[in-house]
Amino acid sequence: MFDFTDKVILITGAAGNLGEAAVQAFYSAGASLALVDNRQDRLPQLFGNLDPARALLQGGVDVTEETAVTHMTTTIINRYGRVDILCNIAGGFKMGTPVHETPLDDWEFMLNLNARSVFLVSRAIIPHMLSQGSGKIISVAARTALEGKAKMAAYTVSKSAVIRLTESMAAELKESGITVNCILPGTIDTPQNRAAMPKADYNKWVAPEALADVMLFLASTAARAVTGAAIPVYGRS
Ligand SMILES: NC(=O)c1ccc[n+]([C@@H]2O[C@H](COP(=O)([O-])OP(=O)(O)OC[C@H]3O[C@@H](n4cnc5c(N)ncnc54)[C@H](OP(=O)(O)O)[C@@H]3O)[C@@H](O)[C@H]2O)c1
Repeated sequence: MFDFTDKVILITGAAGNLGEAAVQAFYSAGASLALVDNRQDRLPQLFGNLDPARALLQGGVDVTEETAVTHMTTTIINRYGRVDILCNIAGGFKMGTPVHETPLDDWEFMLNLNARSVFLVSRAIIPHMLSQGSGKIISVAARTALEGKAKMAAYTVSKSAVIRLTESMAAELKESGITVNCILPGTIDTPQNRAAMPKADYNKWVAPEALADVMLFLASTAARAVTGAAIPVYGRS
């Protein structure tokens, strides 16, 4: 459907459910990839079969750590010389407690994992996109970011921050050839969600491959006029 030959795509959280689907979709569309995850072992397991000329594997990178993000960026720029598309997928969910019972560590864990990660990686990559005069940033927020929910304050705040970051960066970069958007997945059909909700109707959930297709659209020239958007991708849930 799309052709990303000669495009360099940085994908964080590449070893996760959505990350893997995005990697396969962009790779099939001809892209060169920089794949980042905090897991050291899983990138070679999942992507050891990809052409190393088009797949730079960077395991053991914590995208919530400033120094690690700086080092990661240097390695990618040394290898490819540019980043055309940044996919901020690394993130996660942990059920919480009422706000008045929430330990500071739990609050900071969620905020760091979902918001600080997007901030740090975007901040590191945008200067390279500015010197190229082009770029696309696609982050992953969540449907749950749209409204506060009991025992999920830290999560909903952290994913709301991804939407606000997206809008702010889009406003800052709209004259620079760089678009910035995010997607809002509903419940993703993952093995972890199936295990946690065995009685749910999985057919209503959104498949990682369907989310990846939306990311490819946002990364394509077809979406050149879209920036600052938070796109719902709920499946039938
Ligand atoms: N699953 C859902 O139903 C759902 C719904 C709405 C939004 N989302 C969002 O969609 C995105 C992908 O979800 P998913 O289900 O594919 O998650 P996933 O399978 O847990 O994948 C996330 C990947 O990111 C890695 N990661 C976590 N923290 C990291 C860090 N600090 N630095 C580098 N890598 C890190 C994870 O490694 P470890 O596993 O080792 O931590 C994992 O490989 C996330 O942002 C998530 O919040 C998911």
